[in-house]
Amino acid sequence: MNQFLQDVLKGLQSSPKYLQSKYFYDKKGDELFQKIMQCEEYYLTNCEMEIFSTQTAALADIIIDQHNSFDVVELGPGDAVKSLYLLKELAGKNAIDTYFPVDISNNIIDLLQKKLPEQLPKLNIHGLNGEYLSMLTSAKKISDKIKLVLFLGSNIGNIPKEEVNEFCRQIRSQLSIGDMVLIGIDLKKNPKQIRLAYDDSNGYTREFNLNLLRRINRELGGNFVIEDFEHYATYDPITGACRSFLVSLKDQQVTIGNHASFNFLKNETVFMEISQKYSIEQTDEIASQSGFEPVAHFFDKNKWFTDVIWKCV
Ligand SMILES: C[S@@+](CC[C@H](N)C(=O)[O-])C[C@H]1O[C@@H](n2cnc3c(N)ncnc32)[C@H](O)[C@@H]1O
Repeated sequence: MNQFLQDVLKGLQSSPKYLQSKYFYDKKGDELFQKIMQCEEYYLTNCEMEIFSTQTAALADIIIDQHNSFDVVELGPGDAVKSLYLLKELAGKNAIDTYFPVDISNNIIDLLQKKLPEQLPKLNIHGLNGEYLSMLTSAKKISDKIKLVLFLGSNIGNIPKEEVNEFCRQIRSQLSIGDMVLIGIDLKKNPKQIRLAYDDSNGYTREFNLNLLRRINRELGGNFVIEDFEHYATYDPITGACRSFLVSLKDQQVTIGNHASFNFLKNETVFMEISQKYSIEQTDEIASQSGFEPVAHFFDKNKWFTDVIWKCV
């Protein structure tokens, strides 16, 4: 049984029901995420773009100050538009050899493999299609250089807060003293603003969530009636957890191929994704509890978002 099917069955058999957000990213999901990033409400992209486009030299200097010849592994790069600023700067200073974009979406890896050689002619581009941690292990087998791991766009927020230290420890266990990570983290701010970012007025976030039901229908033989579910986003300013759900609009039964059937009650929810927000102090704690030392924090002008550089200790 393939992993996608196993994970969907497990999630829908659970109480409360859930689906894993890493499956959002098929070709349509990638396109919808591009649209979300262009929404006015989705401030995260603009904030991180501001950091990467206006503080590129300062980011590069701190990295090069630690080491002057290394490889870059990027976990979940998406379109890599923000990282390109830094990659160009580092390549211009002859500081990097190979860029390993790691993404669960083969569509993303194909696109980057086509697009990046034109923009980064001096760099070897070695795309790795798969999960963050297993592909980091693959990159380590191929490259024996010092590494800089990029993890941008607050992808780290999609890991529940209770699991984030363990996730960072696992990254650390694949790295060596001298390696660095550069992580984009969304910060706590006005709760209304956060909630709006996950419920944009164009309805792209809604479509992005519903698209996973379409993917299940197409790839696993499901029979979800898309119109019978709606998207719902919540933000808890105390814990910093922003959560997306799909809500069943009526009592209904959904079948996944010839594998299983699931009953949904009217107003029953399916948990889809967490986007955890942190304070700057919490980001330092994650670093020290997972074997890293914070070296620098970069901010956008509003201090809504941070890109932190940690070194392995
Ligand atoms: C929210 S997008 C962010 C993209 C990019 N970092 C940015 O800042 O624009 C998440 C990206 O990570 C990828 N991704 C999500 N979960 C993943 C996983 N478990 N392993 C590998 N890639 C994953 C998705 O396919 C997508 O390209």
